[in-house]
Amino acid sequence: MYNLLKGKRGIITGALDSNSIAWHVALRAKQEGAIFTLSNAPIALRMGQIEQLAQECQTIVIAADATSVEDIEQLYRQSIEYLGGKIDFLLHSIGMSPNVRKKKNHGDLNYEWFVKTLDISAISFHKMMQIGEKLQAFNDYASIVALTYIAAQRVFPDYGDMAEAKALLESIARSYGYRLGKLQKIRVNTVSQSPTPTTAGMGIPGFKEFLKYADEMSPLGNATADDCANYIITLFSDLTRKVTMQTLYHDGGFSSMGIHPAVINPGS
Ligand SMILES: NC(=O)c1ccc[n+]([C@@H]2O[C@H](COP(=O)([O-])OP(=O)(O)OC[C@H]3O[C@@H](n4cnc5c(N)ncnc54)[C@H](O)[C@@H]3O)[C@@H](O)[C@H]2O)c1
Repeated sequence: MYNLLKGKRGIITGALDSNSIAWHVALRAKQEGAIFTLSNAPIALRMGQIEQLAQECQTIVIAADATSVEDIEQLYRQSIEYLGGKIDFLLHSIGMSPNVRKKKNHGDLNYEWFVKTLDISAISFHKMMQIGEKLQAFNDYASIVALTYIAAQRVFPDYGDMAEAKALLESIARSYGYRLGKLQKIRVNTVSQSPTPTTAGMGIPGFKEFLKYADEMSPLGNATADDCANYIITLFSDLTRKVTMQTLYHDGGFSSMGIHPAVINPGS
């Protein structure tokens, strides 16, 4: 390991179980010398295995619903107190759509749920940055990363209203990235990850078949959660200080492909 995050303090949201992308990021951040707190929604604390991760990472779990301003304020206050200083990196690894869960397609959206999808999966990212700024929770040169998906740019019909949530998330990263860059040299990026077999991923209809298709379409194959953690560690490190306001594709090349012969002629 490279000690890339030695001396850095962070907050990692969204680790539910050992499949979660955030789980892998936490383990890698620990290996690279960071100290951090973990956070997830109160219900996820009851259902998931995050306490086990906290033990491995020798840290605490702070319950916070990402849609609640009060909860996010508490998350920053408790994290800064526990870690003994301001925040150098923040991972937003949060997504949920009641419409996708209930298999409602784009012609049959429940609008209350649609608003919920946007609030949980995208506006929460704005809240985390706005509240962090107001509380002066970040150190200069901090790095903020959220996870996104290419359905923000192209049509993947089964992704439902999460496509709109990811488009909003990426826009927030640009707009708030400008602001925090000017204010404190903080960078804000989204990582557009390959389909990954997690609780959120597997909730999408036809996910298994799509996983195989994406793997075949990508010259390097799908990026795993472990690969994603490695990439995110570089973004949290001081080696990427001039990268900001970007949607960064971490997908084995999928986003640049038109067609792959293997998809037309299996075995080629
Ligand atoms: N799995 C994939 O194929 C894939 C691909 C690209 C991007 N992503 C994104 O990666 C991120 C992490 O998802 P994952 O695949 O690791 O799945 P996951 O199910 O392990 O993680 C999603 C997390 O969101 C949390 N969450 C849901 N509602 C919340 C709320 N109100 N407050 C706080 N937390 C809440 C869940 O508890 C869970 O920990 C999501 O933004 C997802 O959209 C996933």
